[in-house]
Amino acid sequence: MQSASSSAPTALPPPAPAFPPASGAAVGAGADSNATHPDTVDPDVVIDVVGASVVRGGKFLIRDISWRVELDERWVVLGPNGAGKTTLLNIASARLHPTSGIVHILGERLGRVDVTELRTRIGLSTVSLHDRIPTHETVLDVVVTASYAVVGRFRERYESADERRARALLAQLGAGSLLDRAYGTLSEGERKRVQIARALMTDPELLLLDEPAAGLDLGGREDLVRRLAGLADDPDAPAMVVVTHHVEEIPAGFTHAMLLRDGGVVAQGLLRQTITSENLSEAFGLPLQVTYADGRFGARAAS
Ligand SMILES: Nc1ncnc2c1ncn2[C@@H]1O[C@H](COP(=O)(O)OP(=O)(O)O)[C@@H](O)[C@H]1O
Ligand SMILES: [Mg+2]
Repeated sequence: MQSASSSAPTALPPPAPAFPPASGAAVGAGADSNATHPDTVDPDVVIDVVGASVVRGGKFLIRDISWRVELDERWVVLGPNGAGKTTLLNIASARLHPTSGIVHILGERLGRVDVTELRTRIGLSTVSLHDRIPTHETVLDVVVTASYAVVGRFRERYESADERRARALLAQLGAGSLLDRAYGTLSEGERKRVQIARALMTDPELLLLDEPAAGLDLGGREDLVRRLAGLADDPDAPAMVVVTHHVEEIPAGFTHAMLLRDGGVVAQGLLRQTITSENLSEAFGLPLQVTYADGRFGARAAS
């Protein structure tokens, strides 16, 4: 390998002039978004995917997906392993541009927007992100540092406000007693809660959680699902999308669902109308019986 770290000295195209603005106004995206897509400036639509496909090595990871998520909606994306859930979430988090199709996230069209700026408006929690958190970092720092990407050089001035917010979020997620613990010493359930607090730290307009309950024991799962239900119930909480492959992990208060299989949509829409025995059986490729009680779903093989 040659010295890749010295990075390409070649001519970068000149960035947009005078960016970022010198004032502390942070990332005021959206102001210039009225330019070329007057069809999608509905401020209530946070995710607008039209006919999106992702192809890698001749294989469709997702195929012709259309999906609209509005501000006050809480979605669950369900499907077996390999169905394309994470791929779809990568698009929704502006990490991945589809091979074809048109995507607007928070009113900004992917491919025409500075995604680093857009990403600061999205809270994302995935296993791969958390594998990168240093184990010696304190819980408070794990959460507070999420804001540095946004406030950057204004860090000093905002420090105490950031800390207050981090403490409040950790308390809300039942991790208020863990502030000084090293991240590496936490249980899996504690880590998940800290990760969600971190994802919320920047006050995102969209919160995306990829399999938040994966690896938790029953108590940990139930605790997390209950806290997600609490978030879902909070009118100030951002629009939410939670990916899972277990209907038992759908928190009460969630409103919509998308079922995926082999990269395609089996069904989507209002939660109760979408999570049915018929649709779930088709998504998972085996006869399943869905139950529903007290706001929670269950599923087992049909007898
Ligand atoms: N970069 C890639 N190149 C080729 N195949 C990929 C790539 N990323 C994911 N896949 C495949 O695409 C399919 C969908 O993956 P993914 O979106 O991660 O599914 P899920 O999250 O539902 O388990 C899987 O079969 C996976 O192996
Ligand atoms: Mg996945």
